[in-house]
Amino acid sequence: MRIGVPREVRPGETMVAATPKTVTQLIGLGYEVVVEHGAGERAHFPDAAYAAAGAFVEAAEEVWKSNIILKVYEPTDEEFHHVFPGQIITSIMAPARNEELIRKLSASGATGLALDAVPRISRAQALDVLSSQANVAGYRAVVEAAHAYGSLLNGQVTAAGKVPPANVFVIGAGVAGLAAIGTAVSLGAIVHATDVRPEVAEQVQSMGGDFVHIDDSAEVSTDGYAKEMSSDQEARAMELYARESAASDIVITTALIPGRPAPTLITREMVANMKPGSVIVDMAAANGGNCELTVKDQKVVSENGVIILGYTDLAGRLPTQSSQLFGTNVVNLMKLLTPAKDGVAVLDFEDVVQRNMTVVRDGEVTWPPPPVNVSAAPVPAAASATAPTDVVKVDPEAERARKSRRTIFLAALVLVVFALIGSFSPPALLGNWTVFLLAIFVGFYVISNVSHSLHTPLMAETNAISGIIMVGALLQVGSDNPVITVMAFIAILVASINVFGGFLVTRRMLSMFTKG
Ligand code: NAI
Repeated sequence: MRIGVPREVRPGETMVAATPKTVTQLIGLGYEVVVEHGAGERAHFPDAAYAAAGAFVEAAEEVWKSNIILKVYEPTDEEFHHVFPGQIITSIMAPARNEELIRKLSASGATGLALDAVPRISRAQALDVLSSQANVAGYRAVVEAAHAYGSLLNGQVTAAGKVPPANVFVIGAGVAGLAAIGTAVSLGAIVHATDVRPEVAEQVQSMGGDFVHIDDSAEVSTDGYAKEMSSDQEARAMELYARESAASDIVITTALIPGRPAPTLITREMVANMKPGSVIVDMAAANGGNCELTVKDQKVVSENGVIILGYTDLAGRLPTQSSQLFGTNVVNLMKLLTPAKDGVAVLDFEDVVQRNMTVVRDGEVTWPPPPVNVSAAPVPAAASATAPTDVVKVDPEAERARKSRRTIFLAALVLVVFALIGSFSPPALLGNWTVFLLAIFVGFYVISNVSHSLHTPLMAETNAISGIIMVGALLQVGSDNPVITVMAFIAILVASINVFGGFLVTRRMLSMFTKG
């Protein structure tokens, strides 16, 4: 089959659905690839690079004759004239609020695969364009904010005086929000973040931000996205947004409930209470915006001097990287559609990922797909053993209780075993057992309370301890007592696994930072 990659025609669009690197991968799947002249120009991929990667570089008419069309955004009316029955079109389609497109696809007899309708299950992450684009956009939101903000983001102590760090508040800790938190932290800002899903608190902290709780927040739908809040919850959330935005220099809003207009979280009054010169980046501007004063694709300055950025092309402002990530998502989709790597795309409706993203199949409307449950979401109590395989029941409270019961039981068991051993052992051995037992308890509590970021130094320390164990065991291994010899041998074996395993892990970690 032939894959066509047209030049994006949306005004100001910079991205392209395939790069020279992903063209090579598509050819590797058995396809022939034809790219429109200048398709990658604005993302800095010249025609010559596509040709060198093995693609044919042709005019639009030729490209649109292909069996499969890869686009970033849905075809325009003009482009729809080229669409023919049986053709497969893949692009971002926003099918939940784009009935017109579904109608046009159906009338054309083509198949439409919406790249933005991938279910949020781990298996589908590799083809989730929304995540890869939101990640880049979250980074760019901070860059735009830093550019518009008139001060430094990091705190500095200079001969001319002290500069405090900027305070950044992020609303919505999904993909874009977490990327924004990480970027703002790396630029030296103090970052607060909130979300209606309290389970993301740990992720916010792991990115270096402080999570601010909205009381009683817990609403997640079965598809892994947030649900609407109750009015009580909403009132408490609004108080929080007002307090935090008034204290912040930069506010980045990313709140989204799929298929609905973006909720208004920063009101006109809240903006009036913010400091002059502070910046709001409203990432939800395309869906109506989270700030009452946002104007889509515009920079607005409020009466009190607050700058509100409603750009909807944040990912497109980094077109090379965004196109590469987008193209890789598309290659992963094509791998799924081409299990035999024979250049023939086969749509399998038994596969939940392919079913979910198919909006129209050969003219037949298949949207909306049946609901999909994902592991991140709490499963309703009624869900039983007949639930689909992608469902994993997670009840954090029950899980915690189960773990602490298990720990208590194990501790009691160990105590009984050691009490029995102690009652039959000579007094000298009893002393050693006591030290051993205490070492296990102290070691367990010290190690389990070490934060993730300190695991590398902890590993180095355990390697040093393993070294000491090995020296002791080597001195004992030649003992006349066979029990001591066996125990010394086991100690050498276990300690060596730790030492050599440590070397291997360190080597892998270092190679992650090695260029090329
Ligand atoms: P996501 O679904 O991963 O994250 C949204 C987060 O907002 C979720 O964690 C959700 O729980 C939270 N949320 C929903 N309602 C909330 C509320 N009332 N208060 C606090 N948190 C709330 O979505 P993702 O991928 O991170 O995208 C975020 C936004 O960024 C979307 O609106 C998306 O359209 C937009 N976006 C904008 C771009 C641009 O160029 N402006 C580019 C890419 C994405």
